[in-house]
Amino acid sequence: MKGLAQAGMEPRDHSVPARIRPRIDEVESSLIREVASRGMDSDDVLALWFGEGNVPTPKFIVDAAKRALDQGHVFYTDNQGITPLRQALAGYISGLYGVPMDIERISVTASGMSAITVAMQLLVEPGDNVVITGPVWPNCIETVRIAGADPRVVQIELGEDGWSLDLDRLFDSVDENTRAFFINSPNNPTGWVMPEEQQREVLDFCRGRGIWLIADEVYDRLVYQGRHAPSFHTLADPDDPVIIVNSFSKSWSMTGWRMGWMVTPARLGLTIGKLIEYNFSCVATFIQHAGIVAVEEGEPFVAELVERYRRGRDVVYQRLAGIDRVRMALPEAAFYAFFAVDGMADSTDFAIRLLEEKRVGLAPGAAFGPGGEGHLRLCFAATEATLSESLGRIAEFIER
Ligand SMILES: Cc1ncc(COP(=O)(O)O)c(C=O)c1O
Repeated sequence: MKGLAQAGMEPRDHSVPARIRPRIDEVESSLIREVASRGMDSDDVLALWFGEGNVPTPKFIVDAAKRALDQGHVFYTDNQGITPLRQALAGYISGLYGVPMDIERISVTASGMSAITVAMQLLVEPGDNVVITGPVWPNCIETVRIAGADPRVVQIELGEDGWSLDLDRLFDSVDENTRAFFINSPNNPTGWVMPEEQQREVLDFCRGRGIWLIADEVYDRLVYQGRHAPSFHTLADPDDPVIIVNSFSKSWSMTGWRMGWMVTPARLGLTIGKLIEYNFSCVATFIQHAGIVAVEEGEPFVAELVERYRRGRDVVYQRLAGIDRVRMALPEAAFYAFFAVDGMADSTDFAIRLLEEKRVGLAPGAAFGPGGEGHLRLCFAATEATLSESLGRIAEFIER
């Protein structure tokens, strides 16, 4: 056996510290995790901090994954996903949005998050910037930084009629280094939904200026009016500079399965296939098979889920809106209440104290970019009993 010295592994006194990319040091850790890590392992905490429902994946999807394993679907697949899943997704999208959809435009990814990562790798490099509507899920901001570019957040504002975006401010923040808009609608954390007229204007702007649009539509089915939110699918032509990101996580309660997809112009298929190869190569094969069943047979489940979340939303809104120091809009979509607490200067400190004193876990607004401070986010995809008990404790804490 070789000794350490022979293997060249003995400690040296003249060693030079090996560095990591300086940019990566600037990446912020998620403040949601920072709060949650203090109570995740405690059974007595009513945890409403993560963006995840309390409903497990339905049995018909679980059974499809088990069947696929039994049938031996355990080998690598095409980078962009198995053809039957891409066909099923094309059928799902064209059925839902009433548009033709070519399977060449669809790539299956290892989550919505990894679709965003691939989109950033495709579009940006150091010196570029991405204009993002916020507040927004922190991952959307930090992925831009990891890719080496600069995120520029343009705030949506809470007014008398709910959340809204001033398009002039969005367009004014574009310069010659802007490579893309990142628009998350329906939005996490506010539940804001970009109206179709605004989507049309954004698309025209992108076409005119040669700027990409990354549309994060992972909450497109969790809407409290209609079957889906307004989507860039219904407006964009197949060759427009648009990338639409979606996920199995929210609509079919599959957060832990890690599968999503992206829709791009067909001409990018091969390039995206290469990026997928060098990121995760392909999504787990048996999970792709379960995905077919989810999109083809999942409509009754999606409808039931939305009704359940609607009940949670109504309970939370009624209770929170009745607290003097709280301001919030009725969420139009997604499963979050994002509320302002007057006089709260540091939402992270507030969330930690709420956790320690009342055993309720919320996400601090500061986690969602520069405009999030002063707010807290509560995920209402929980049982009515958990919501009622949490709201009682939150009210006591705020009102005391
Ligand atoms: C706005 C937004 N986009 C994308 C995702 C990604 O979801 P996943 O990676 O589970 O598919 C999430 C998850 O919380 C989200 O809130």
